[in-house]
Amino acid sequence: MSKSTFMHNLSMEVELGPLHLKNPILTASGTCGYGEELADWMDLSALGALVTKTVTRKPRAGNPSPRTCETASGMLNAIGLQNVGIERFIEEKLPFLRSLDVSLIVNIAGETVQDFADLAAALADKSGIAALELNISCPNVAHGLDFATDPRQTKEVVAAVRDATALPIIVKLSPNVTDIRPIAFSAQEGGADVLSITNTFVGMAIDIERRRPVISNLTGGLSGPAIKPLSLLAVYRCAQTVDIPIIGIGGICTAKDALEYLLAGASAVQVGTATFVQPDAALRVLRGIEEYMQKHHFKNVREIIGGLQV
Ligand SMILES: Cc1cc2nc3c(=O)[nH]c(=O)nc-3n(C[C@H](O)[C@H](O)[C@H](O)COP(=O)(O)O)c2cc1C
Repeated sequence: MSKSTFMHNLSMEVELGPLHLKNPILTASGTCGYGEELADWMDLSALGALVTKTVTRKPRAGNPSPRTCETASGMLNAIGLQNVGIERFIEEKLPFLRSLDVSLIVNIAGETVQDFADLAAALADKSGIAALELNISCPNVAHGLDFATDPRQTKEVVAAVRDATALPIIVKLSPNVTDIRPIAFSAQEGGADVLSITNTFVGMAIDIERRRPVISNLTGGLSGPAIKPLSLLAVYRCAQTVDIPIIGIGGICTAKDALEYLLAGASAVQVGTATFVQPDAALRVLRGIEEYMQKHHFKNVREIIGGLQV
């Protein structure tokens, strides 16, 4: 029995296709490192799942600084997928992540279809991994958005990963498209088990004194409360379009934010930028959902999912 179930006699468990999670609150990729970075700040075992920083085939140094800046109700980042690479991830990071009593979702990204398939194959036989999340939507690297802005390429990359692993596949979509629904549908057709919606929105900021871009990469991905209404609509629209479950992401800071996503049709949510303000933001969101459930006499969190009345 999960802690929350024990504490409040509430059922917080959710099913995302083949993925069974003890509750619907996850951390978002790139905002909780490889777990160690947050372990002193919160009880990671209380999370529904932990999603790692994106791992690529080779180590990446990321983009030059400055690569983050604060914006109105949010932030821009252009980290550029800085990470240790798949070999060191397996040797150095996976043992600690495995030692945690939490479902582990490994987020991977490649420049080609073959990269994604190779990464999935390298992780296919490793114990302690609950699912893979495919980052086909990073706006801060060359070709990062190629896949998630093209339905055909989305389907191709998902199908290649499907062939390479039996692990559940979560496909992380980009909001930087005219209409996200055809992409969501293609991911489902390619064999995705779950969609995570959304990654960041491409934006920029200018330093008027230096008359230069604030971010060295010129553009960055916008995240935080500023994007919540936009990502929420993307989740709502995709929930009307696909049959597979959705994880809602974008600007979730409070239980109210998370509940909006659940009502819109998300089966779970990820908390990202809010973690930089309060390291245990994800757990505060979880506790707040439990309070809402008690107040509104919900016994099972699944009763809330898709409950929006229009
Ligand atoms: C500093 C930073 C680094 C990120 N790195 C990654 C990453 O490596 N892979 C990925 O899929 N998403 C990455 N993201 C995107 C988040 O996982 C999330 O999709 C996005 O920030 C929107 O959620 P939020 O508004 O709650 O932050 C990153 C976001 C931030 C702010």
